[in-house]
Amino acid sequence: MRKTIGVGVIGMGWMGECHSRSYKVIADRFYDQNIDPRLVICSDSVEERARDSQHRFGFEEYTTDWKQVIAHPDVDVVNITAPTGMHLELIKAAAEAGKHVYCEKPAGKNPQEIAEAEAIARQYDVLSMIGYNYRWAPVVQYARKLILDGKLGRLTHYRGRFLNCYASDPHSLFSWRFQKENGHGTLTDLMSHTIDMAHMLVGPVKRLTSNIQIIIKERPLPTEGTSSHYAKGNADSPMASVTNDDYVSALLEFENGVTGTIESCRVINGPKTEMGFELHGTEGALRWNFEQMNELQLQYRNNEAGEEGYTTIYSSPAHPNHERFNPAPGTGLGYDDLKVIECFEFLKAVSNGTEADPSLKEALAVAKVQQAILASWDKQAWVDVEK
Ligand SMILES: NC(=O)c1ccc[n+]([C@@H]2O[C@H](COP(=O)([O-])OP(=O)(O)OC[C@H]3O[C@@H](n4cnc5c(N)ncnc54)[C@H](O)[C@@H]3O)[C@@H](O)[C@H]2O)c1
Repeated sequence: MRKTIGVGVIGMGWMGECHSRSYKVIADRFYDQNIDPRLVICSDSVEERARDSQHRFGFEEYTTDWKQVIAHPDVDVVNITAPTGMHLELIKAAAEAGKHVYCEKPAGKNPQEIAEAEAIARQYDVLSMIGYNYRWAPVVQYARKLILDGKLGRLTHYRGRFLNCYASDPHSLFSWRFQKENGHGTLTDLMSHTIDMAHMLVGPVKRLTSNIQIIIKERPLPTEGTSSHYAKGNADSPMASVTNDDYVSALLEFENGVTGTIESCRVINGPKTEMGFELHGTEGALRWNFEQMNELQLQYRNNEAGEEGYTTIYSSPAHPNHERFNPAPGTGLGYDDLKVIECFEFLKAVSNGTEADPSLKEALAVAKVQQAILASWDKQAWVDVEK
């Protein structure tokens, strides 16, 4: 029998649109799984965005008051795609109302808020999912399987990174993203994906030492109606000081003895969305970069003489979920498809009443590494990650 799950979305910017679009195709891409999302209500503080989203995605209602989303009797899942600074308040309100929570990363504006969000969800026994979407690339899930099957032998080295250009233009506008009162910068934004990927592929981090920098110190203030993720100011715009981090890196020692580095930056030139990893073991190596998200590089130590080096593997129906999108090898997926998989994974968890992965539990593990990164920079020393 097919199951209908009511969804309410709060925040209709880039991610709100992307999630809403994803819910619309689940019943098609995962047809045999018998789950039908029902787009009940969407909310944005900008009325025009909320109203347009109702028509564009087919929500039954819209509102400018997020409390109405949580209170709506037909909403089972509260989808949080509002600015990061609101996440804890929204998770808290949803959990207290007994609603399951699908929240974009980061779950809070600092590690303490993420810990609070995890504790609240546990207290009210609601299910959760966090938007660590890069996990869901079919070749990344295949990489995970190769590691678990022991194909790389004992893991020895890991290098993870998320190098992004979204704020590399000094004229890109000052927004909530660059204000410490709304959260850390790269540490909780891009670095949360980098740490989650390291956890998924290698395991928990034991100790680390870090480096944190603000590279572009001032940005132009927006004028009314111009603010968005990629909007630009001009030469005579008034300026505001950036108060959170552009760049974060750390040297890591994992609990299983693997040695590693992680690095994230939002103001880099060259890479665009270089979310990737290199992983080495005693029997082989893997590397992947989202900019070529349908290609995994694989090398085995005992390759034939004359065939040494990495081989490129193309995303194919042999990899998890690829066939939901395309029946042929080499016909790849895109960013939005990863969100479709993520939305489905959460609705499946809600439908079965089982914990999702990654949930707020995994977000808390990420937050503990972020906390250690801050402590290390503060002390200018190696620090242990809290267990
Ligand atoms: N997983 C990913 O790849 C990824 C990518 C981008 C952003 N994100 C995360 O998604 C979240 C949103 O980012 P975005 O890029 O979509 O931001 P955005 O600025 O494009 O969208 C935020 C929306 O929230 C609305 N909003 C503000 N206050 C509100 C309120 N009180 N009630 C309802 N709506 C309100 C804004 O008007 C805007 O439309 C952030 O936490 C960010 O870290 C994740």
